[in-house]
This record gives sequence, structure tokens and C-alpha cells, in this order.
Amino acid sequence: MKPKKMKDGVFWVGAVDWDRRLFDSLIPLPYGTSYNAYLVVGSEKTALLDTVEPSKTDVLLSQLEEVESIDYIVSHHAEQDHSGAIPAVLDKYPGAVVLASTKAKALLMDHLRIPEARVRTVADGEKVPLGDRTLEFIYAPWVHWPETMFTYLAELRVLFTCDLFGSHLAASGVFYQDAWKVREEAKRYYSEVMMPFRAMIAKHMDRIAGLDMDVIAPSHGPAHDSTAMILDAHREWVSEKVKNKVVVPFASMHGSTEKMVDALTEELSQRGVVVERFNMAVSDMGELAMSLVDAATIVIGSPTVLLGAHPLVVSAVFMANSLKPKLKFASIIGSYGWGGRMVEQITGLMGNLKVEMIEPVMIKGKPTEDDFAAIAGLAGEIAARHEKSADVLTGGPVEGAGV
Ligand code: FEO
Repeated sequence: MKPKKMKDGVFWVGAVDWDRRLFDSLIPLPYGTSYNAYLVVGSEKTALLDTVEPSKTDVLLSQLEEVESIDYIVSHHAEQDHSGAIPAVLDKYPGAVVLASTKAKALLMDHLRIPEARVRTVADGEKVPLGDRTLEFIYAPWVHWPETMFTYLAELRVLFTCDLFGSHLAASGVFYQDAWKVREEAKRYYSEVMMPFRAMIAKHMDRIAGLDMDVIAPSHGPAHDSTAMILDAHREWVSEKVKNKVVVPFASMHGSTEKMVDALTEELSQRGVVVERFNMAVSDMGELAMSLVDAATIVIGSPTVLLGAHPLVVSAVFMANSLKPKLKFASIIGSYGWGGRMVEQITGLMGNLKVEMIEPVMIKGKPTEDDFAAIAGLAGEIAARHEKSADVLTGGPVEGAGV
């Protein structure tokens, strides 16, 4: 493969993983992904910004065949999908040194066994000249590891942001062609990787707001040569505001819980509240995570199994709790045969969610008219709380409506 030009003296030398369908043995990747590495050629020195997943080392090296010298390998983030080929690049270029944050140095030595002598730490705000180009490092901890940093190339107005502003989206070009698709996949990426750190991300976004930027170049998915779309989207996602939307992860074994979910969907819809529902027996965790980015309320639906919640629902609640979405309200609905502690069990899994609990609706067996009335009451309470909350954006169209 040959390097792809991004700007004068800046080349994409990464790898596209068209067929990858799972990340971290957990995250579904419906559209594959890419591991973006960039070569910055200055008048005096050359830097490689990040590398690729170890399995794609040959793809990276094939693009470096005509590159005689690399002076610096900048490691923005020690996770192996970006750092995994550093040892191979160090072997090819004996004079190269890795530039990394203080915390990244330790992680690189632990995970990749890179010799200490080949790693030089750089400070937050430090500038490293390449001649007519200068690399400026900006520490950005917790997007999503503690050691992460960005690189700003002021002369060309490019900000390299590692995982932040990325998307798991395999594409043939350096820049995106389809803004809607990139926004959707960036939302998926944000929901699964960045959402737990949204307060830190908001601070980092404040810090970079003053930079003169033409291009944002993340380490997954296409780069952004129109920066407003991706910055505006992230500003919206990290803000306190939520949409007039209820997300309903549920499972049903014999249909009673599903009838309750059907009734709740209809009652909320009649009140102008959007419902995004996920039958966990057939739904993708990634879709649920995306829905959690801007939902006001979660209603968890489960039958009672072995005196507790259905295991698929337990898994969904565990994930939602780990991702720390900005939900404002929560409730639980479900059916039982002869008893159980489902409500206590689910509530106990939600410690990270800063939500007001709305009285659950638990019923015995198949729902009756009284049970449907209780569901209507729950829908009315949710709609009223949304209306009263200053953080819920009621009144306008909701992105994703009708899903
Ligand atoms: Fe793409 Fe956190 O590595």
C-alpha cells in the first residue's frame, strides 16, 4: 500500500479493518473500523503519529517502505490498537524514539515491553520541532485511558485526537463522504467508549475550542475536514440536556412483560414521548448504548426468573450503569409468577445512575385492565416529569424518533 496524502507533508499510513465485527470481545462493529496512523514530514525530521493493531503491522510497514528515516513515533494512547506495531517500527528505524506522556511511557513498557531508553516523555504543552512543522502535545486524560494526549500541528491547523471524535467505520478515503453516517457511527463510538468520561471530555473540548483547526484527525474512522459537525455533535452529547425520550431494554419469556412494554410504548407515544425499545433477546448492545446517549428516562422490563431479573436484562442494566449516561429518571416494569426480588436486584445494579426512581409497576401473571391502567399511570408520570425538568428538551422533533 502507498501512503495517502492528507495535507502537504501529512500522510495517512494506517490500516482499514473492513471485516472486524467485534472490539474488545464486546463491542459490535457493524461497519468494521480503521486504525489511523499519520506520517508528518518536516524539513528536518519526520514523525509517525500512532501505529496500528498488531495484526495489521504489515499494512503499516508496507506504507513506510520508501520512508528512509523516522525520528519520532508519537504514542497518543497506549492501547494496543494504536501502539501494537510500535516495536516493529522501532526495529525498522533504530534511531527512532517514542514520544509519550508520562503515564503512557509506563503503560507502553508494561504492555509492549518497549525498552525504557527508547521512550522519551513529553510534557503537557511541550513543542517538538520537525523543522518547518512543530508538534505540540496536549494532555487529554481519560479519553478513555489516563495517559491519552493529542497533537496539534499549528502550521497546518490539524488536531490529532486519538480515540476522541473517532468512529468505528471502515472507509476507503482519508476524509468522510457521508456526514450522516459518520455522525451515527461517531455516536456509537462515543456511547460505548467515551460516555463514562463526558465531564472530562467537556473540559478537553473547552481547552481545544481556541485552536485554529481545519482538520480533526482521530485514530478510528474517517478524518473530519469540516470540524463543525463532529464538534457540535459531541457538544450536544456531553451537555446536560436530554431528549424527550424513553429507552426500554427488556426481555419477555411468555409475553406478559412484552404486553406491558407494548402498552407503555403506546401510552408514551400518545403523550408525545419517543420510545426506543430493545428486546435484549434480539438487540445489539451497541444500539442500546447509542440510545442511552440522550435519553431522559430508562424503563427496564423483565420477567422474573429464578426469583430475579432475566439474565439478558441484568446484562443490559450492568452495561447501562457502567456507561453512566445522563439519564434523569428510571423505572422498572415486569411480571412475576409467585414472588421474587427483581426490583431490588435491578435497583442494586444502578448505583452509577443519578436518576430519580419512578414507582415500578410489577404485576402477577398476565396483565389485567388494572395493570394496563397502572402502565398508563406510569406513562403519565414520566411525561409530566419530562415536562417539568429543565434538562429535558420537550417540544421539538427528537433525533431517532420512530426507531
Ligand atoms: Fe482505539 Fe482506546 O483505543
